[in-house]
Amino acid sequence: MGPTGRVIGVDMTPDMVSKARRNAATGRFTNVEFRLGEIEHLPVADRTADVIISNCVINLSPDKPAVFREAFRVLKRGGRLAISDVVATAELPQEMKDDLALIAGCIGNAAPIADLEAAMRDAGFVDVRIAPKDASRTFIKDWAPGRSVEDYVQSATIEAVKPRGGCC
Ligand SMILES: C[S@@+](CC[C@H](N)C(=O)[O-])C[C@H]1O[C@@H](n2cnc3c(N)ncnc32)[C@H](O)[C@@H]1O
Repeated sequence: MGPTGRVIGVDMTPDMVSKARRNAATGRFTNVEFRLGEIEHLPVADRTADVIISNCVINLSPDKPAVFREAFRVLKRGGRLAISDVVATAELPQEMKDDLALIAGCIGNAAPIADLEAAMRDAGFVDVRIAPKDASRTFIKDWAPGRSVEDYVQSATIEAVKPRGGCC
């Protein structure tokens, strides 16, 4: 990022925004700011960001297509997504999808890779790449011991680019 770069952090939980602000003050980071908001309705202006990073949040969203439409809106042309998240590598059993603890635990609402790729392309992204990490099964199994969740979800890198040309 460098000294002239700027970072905007977004979280929908006031406590998390307050904590992030405290951490930034402790670290004397002056080129970061934190805004309360939802990733489906980002409190960020159109075409202002070079890159959007996120770790383990999109799986929690009930409207993932809206998340990618918003990401596309706030990125500059040529901007990119560099995300780490939990994705479904197999259809989750209904009892896992309905389990509130698994939903809150970043498992129950994880989307299939093909659905995420389609949502990103529909939003306008190109060079879409989702790479699940087999090795993540070793720690994901501990998120819900005895439930075999590692057979259904993995951690993945999710990357895409907003085209340089285009209207928006
Ligand atoms: C699993 S934590 C991940 C936090 C952080 N990214 C990390 O890697 O430690 C999920 C965070 O996403 C936030 N969150 C969940 N759904 C959100 C949404 N729709 N919009 C904005 N923030 C959301 C929660 O408040 C929580 O702070």
